[in-house]
Formats: sequence, structure tokens, C-alpha cells
Amino acid sequence: MDHMMFVVSLLNLLYSGSMLAFGDSQCCSRMLNDAGGNSGVTSPSPPQIYGEWVSMRCEVRPGPEFLARKYKFHADSTFTLFQYYYADNHCTTPLYSLKLRGSIQIDEPSWIIRGGTKAEYELDRVLVTSHRVDITEFLVAKVNATCPGFISPQETWVTNMRYHVFSWHDDKDCLEALSFSMHELQLLRVEIHERVDPKTRSTNLREELFLGDVHTDIKQRMYYRPTSYQTPLMNIKQQDNCSVCQLLDNSDDVNPPIFPAQSEYPVILHGEWVSSRCEVRPQVFFLIRHLIFHGNHTWEGYYHHYSDPFCRNPTFSLYAKGYHSEGLKSDIVRGGTEYDFITTEMRITPKDTGTTELLNVFEGDELCGQQGTWKLGTEQDVTQTYGCAALGIRLPHTEYELMRMEYDAFRRTVLLYNGQRPSDGSNPTTADKRPTSYQTPLVQCGGINILSRDSNSDSSDNDNSLNSAPSTPWQHVALATLLLNSILLS
Ligand SMILES: *[C@@H]1O[C@H](CO)[C@@H](O)[C@H](O)[C@H]1NC(C)=O
Ligand SMILES: *[C@@H]1O[C@H](CO)[C@@H](O)[C@H](O)[C@H]1NC(C)=O
Ligand SMILES: *[C@@H]1O[C@H](CO)[C@@H](O)[C@H](O)[C@H]1NC(C)=O
Repeated sequence: MDHMMFVVSLLNLLYSGSMLAFGDSQCCSRMLNDAGGNSGVTSPSPPQIYGEWVSMRCEVRPGPEFLARKYKFHADSTFTLFQYYYADNHCTTPLYSLKLRGSIQIDEPSWIIRGGTKAEYELDRVLVTSHRVDITEFLVAKVNATCPGFISPQETWVTNMRYHVFSWHDDKDCLEALSFSMHELQLLRVEIHERVDPKTRSTNLREELFLGDVHTDIKQRMYYRPTSYQTPLMNIKQQDNCSVCQLLDNSDDVNPPIFPAQSEYPVILHGEWVSSRCEVRPQVFFLIRHLIFHGNHTWEGYYHHYSDPFCRNPTFSLYAKGYHSEGLKSDIVRGGTEYDFITTEMRITPKDTGTTELLNVFEGDELCGQQGTWKLGTEQDVTQTYGCAALGIRLPHTEYELMRMEYDAFRRTVLLYNGQRPSDGSNPTTADKRPTSYQTPLVQCGGINILSRDSNSDSSDNDNSLNSAPSTPWQHVALATLLLNSILLS
């Protein structure tokens, strides 16, 4: 049933006939420069986190977990944070919510993640509110099993009421039952994006709060110190036009926001896509990506690596080329499409002396190209030497991917998401390592605008009866995943 809906909506879009020709590679190179130069971006140190910050969209965490966040940092270093968990990838069906109070101490700049600042936090209390009877029952059973005696025999939990799962004063702690950790607060970065509107000459400010990443392996989550970031939260004071942000602003843990139902966009790999910002990868790389899909199952990718968080000091560039499988709708991550990517050719260009020297050192099991022949700024094809073992890439190289497409929050550009990389720094080279969440999205800069038909209809979000309100089977899958994750952890 659901699969059929997907195919129907795909055909709908394909035959809608309004495929706008985009700019050309000029547009892509301009956007690449923007991402690299980070013109108009500043990052104050220490970061000023005072204020209210909200999600821009329904977020996907490894698992998958679908959630939205509203974080308030008060002037006296205390905080009140809300996390809302959902059954679906559009955040229309709330499962349960958390309210957290505590305090945060901003520390010194991180030595490991340049541009980030370390912080320590203390939780004061954590309250859970379930919005569904089945979730209430599940939570009670889980808390009771993880922390025997935590819920007294006389106590009954009901939906839409708050219950402590952590209280510092009463020495109560059963956060483990939720496989919950707030370690994202251990790494912070604030970016201020300044844009001058060419027409009105007025200055637009956008403040983003980056918090630490959540480990892709749920069993590691409670012990992991972040080495990268999640999608940023936006400062509420600059979000007049973001309807989702307004919903979040007016929400609390007993009244979770219900986002408008949205069409599920099919992924159509055709066109060119670039990073919209200097990206941070775990273990710790800074990079800018440029991917090209030819629409005939072949692809090319440029991965420009840097040593600094503004992507100004290049270290090396990697070019890869290959083919990919047909997309298959994911049974695990609602809204996701699975692809297998095979890299058959690879070229590397060292961009600084350190990397050049390093590449020349690799030999034997770590061989990367012809040992001793690397020159600064000169590209070398490493296809003949079966890739670059030192980078963990043996050609042909297969990666198991998860992808998704959607409009940005202002419906101006199409975004392409691909899977979050494993937090341990490895590559997703086996099917069981296929991601269940996404990394920073790429922005379309060339090719046809596949989603364009939809952008022309203004009642876009709710009018598509084929795709609106989540169907019941999917809710069950999301719920099953939630249960399974918790079971795996215990
Ligand atoms: C908690 O677990 C105990 C032992 O298994 C059981 O007797 C009790 O009824 C459970 N309490 C709740 C609230 O489920
Ligand atoms: C917000 O919406 C108004 C009116 O629709 C528009 O004039 C303004 O440019 C928008 N602001 C942003 C930041 O998009
Ligand atoms: C795929 O398309 C690209 C660009 O049009 C072309 O260069 C390439 O030869 C095609 N590959 C195959 C296998 O058809």
C-alpha cells in the first residue's frame, strides 16, 4: 500500500512537466566559493548561547528517532530544554516528550574540534510525558525493568502527565531506560550569518547554535563525547517566517508541537549538489562536497578537505567516480531511500606540504598511489593502486547509503541529504552499517529542479491527499524501532 503511494507520487512528479533548467556549473562554483569563504559568517568565542533556540525542521537521529527541539538558556547559566519525539519523519504524531532543567558551564575552546567550545553540564531534573497509552505502558515497563523499584507499586502513570526519570535532589536516576544522554551540551558553536539583501540593502542576521553529535551506535550514546555537530538550532528571534519555529515557540512537554503534514518527496538522483557550509565530520575533518549525478546511474564527487572550521586552509582534495544502484524505499527509516554507491575511480590532490609528505610515507598495507611520487598541488590517479588504503578506501569501494530530498525551510532550494557517517570514523561498507540518520544537506546548484512543480502550488503542504497523514503501518514500524532500540541497549 505504502509502496504504491510512493510510486504514484514519483510518477506524479516526473510527469508534471515543469522541470526548470537550473543555472550551470557557474552557479555551482559560486556556491562552492561561498561555502568555502564563509563570507559573512562569524563565530564568537566564547559562544553566546543565552536565549531560545529551536529546530528548523523535523530532525532524524540514528535509530531512527524523529524529534524536534526547543532549548532555552537563561542568563544565570541554567537551562530549560524540551525534546519532542515522534512516530514519523514529519513530526506529526507525538510519542513522548522530555523536559530537562539543569545548568551549563562554558569551558575553553576545544583542542580536538577547532572552532568548537567545550562545556560541562549538570542535570537537575528530567521529566517525561507520554502522549499515547501504548507508549506510557512501554515506558513504565522499561523504567521498571531498568530500575527496579523506581516506580512504586502504588504509582500509575497516565498519558499527558509529567513523571520524573531523573532528579538530582531526590537522588533518582533512570535515564538509562530511555538510552538518553545530554552529552550534546559538551560541545558548542554559535555561528552568526550576516547577509545584506541586495535590493533593500537591509542586513539579515541568522544565528545558529551547533551542539555535539549523537553517536550513530545507540549502545555508545551514553559514553560518547561529541566529535562533530548535529544540525544547528536557530535563534527564535530571527525566525519570523519559519512556521515550524513558531509552533515550537508555543509548545511545551504537555503540548508538543504537531508539524503540518507534508508530501514525501522521492529522491531523483540527477543534477549537481554542493555543501552550503564548511562541514565537520567526526574524527575530525572539515570539508566541502560537490556531487554530480548524471541520471544514468553514474556519479562523480569532489571532496575538498580543510584543516580549519571556515574551510580556508586546504589539505587535500579527493575526486571519486562510479555508479549507484536503483533507489529502494527504506523499510527502516521512514522517508528515506536506500542506495548502494560503488566507487571505481579515484584521484587525490595534496594541497599542503604536511599531506604531501604523509602521502609519500604510506607503503605496504597502507599504500596510497605510488609511494614517494606525490607532489604538492599535483593530482594523482590512485585507481591503478586500488585506491588509498590509508584512507580506508580499496577500489572498487561500496558504501551503503540512505538519502532523502526536500525543500529548505523557506522553500527556496532543494536539499539532498545523505547518510550520517558512523561516529567511530569507519565507512558504511556493509549493509548493517547503512545509516539511519542524515548529515548536513547539500544544496542543488545545477541540473533540473525535480521538485519544482510543488513549489508553484501554494497550498502545497496539505493538499496532497496521497501523501498527507501518515498511514498506520508506518507508525507501527517507528514504534517497533523505538522498542527495538531500547531492547538492544539493555
Ligand atoms: C515492576 O516489576 C515488578 C517485578 O517484575 C512487578 O511485580 C511490578 O508489578 C512492576 N511494576 C509496574 C508498575 O509495572
Ligand atoms: C518574511 O516574509 C516577508 C513577507 O512574506 C518577506 O517580505 C521577508 O523577506 C521574509 N523574510 C525572510 C528572512 O525570508
Ligand atoms: C552517463 O552520462 C554521462 C553524462 O551525460 C556520460 O558522460 C556517461 O558516459 C554516461 N554513462 C553511461 C554508462 O551511460
